[in-house]
Amino acid sequence: MSIDTSEQFEKMKKIGSIVANCLAFLKAKARPGMSTLELDEMAGKFLEEHGAFSAPKTVYSFPGFTCISLEKTTAHGIPSPTIIKEGDLLNIDVSAHLDGYYADNGESFLVGGKGDEFKKRLCKAAKKSLNMALKKATAGGKISALGKEVEKVADSFGFTIIENLGGHGVGRSLHEKPEFIASFFDEDDKRVFEENCIVAVEPFISNGGTWIRKAKDGWGLYHPKFYSAQKEHTIMITKDKPYIFTNPTKSY
Ligand code: CO
Ligand code: CO
Repeated sequence: MSIDTSEQFEKMKKIGSIVANCLAFLKAKARPGMSTLELDEMAGKFLEEHGAFSAPKTVYSFPGFTCISLEKTTAHGIPSPTIIKEGDLLNIDVSAHLDGYYADNGESFLVGGKGDEFKKRLCKAAKKSLNMALKKATAGGKISALGKEVEKVADSFGFTIIENLGGHGVGRSLHEKPEFIASFFDEDDKRVFEENCIVAVEPFISNGGTWIRKAKDGWGLYHPKFYSAQKEHTIMITKDKPYIFTNPTKSY
C-alpha cells in the first residue's frame, strides 16, 4: 500500500510497534527447555492483549499465531511441542493486523546465547544485510538495488542467499504489491520504489543453501543440509532513508 494520510501512517505505526514489541518480548522469553508451542501461546496472548490479530492465522489459516522456525527450518515453521535446546537457531516471525493495517517482522537468534560460531555469524550477516539493503530503499530507487547490497554482505561473510524467499509489499494485507523483493541481484527487475509505499524487507542468509523446499507438513520451508538466518522490517519508502515501523518501543 501507499500511505496517503496521517491517519494511515498512525495506524501503521501502531501495528508496527505491536509486532515489534511482540517479537522483542518473545526473544526475551525464549529459553532452552521450552517448546516452540509455548512461545507461540505467549505470542497469541500478547497480540490479544494489544487488540491485534495474527496475520498468518487470519490470512492463510496458518496453524499458529507466529511462524517459529527451529534449526534447519528456514521459515513458516509450525509451533510444535519440540523442545528448544541451548544454542539452537530460532527464527520468530511476527505479523499481525489491527484496524485493517498489517505489519510484519522477524529475526533469527541463538537461544541461550551459547552455540556454534557459524550460527552467530549467520544472524549477524542477516542483520547487516538488512541494514545495508535499507540504505538503498529510497523513492525512485531500483528495487533490485536491495538484493545487490544483500549479496555484497553475504559474500563478505562467505555465505549464500536463499533465492526463493523475498520481501514484499504489506499494509492492507500481509502480502501485496510490490511482489517478491529479491535478496539477490536481479538485473531484469526494472521496478522502482514509489514514495510512501510500504514494504517488508527480509533477507535470508545461509551457510551454503540457495533454495529451500516445502516440508511434508505443508507449511514449513527448510533446507535439508544448511542453516539460514533472517531479519525483517516493515518500512515506508521516503525520498531519504526509510521510516522503520517495526523498531520495538519497549524492552522486555
Ligand atoms: Co515475516
Ligand atoms: Co514478510
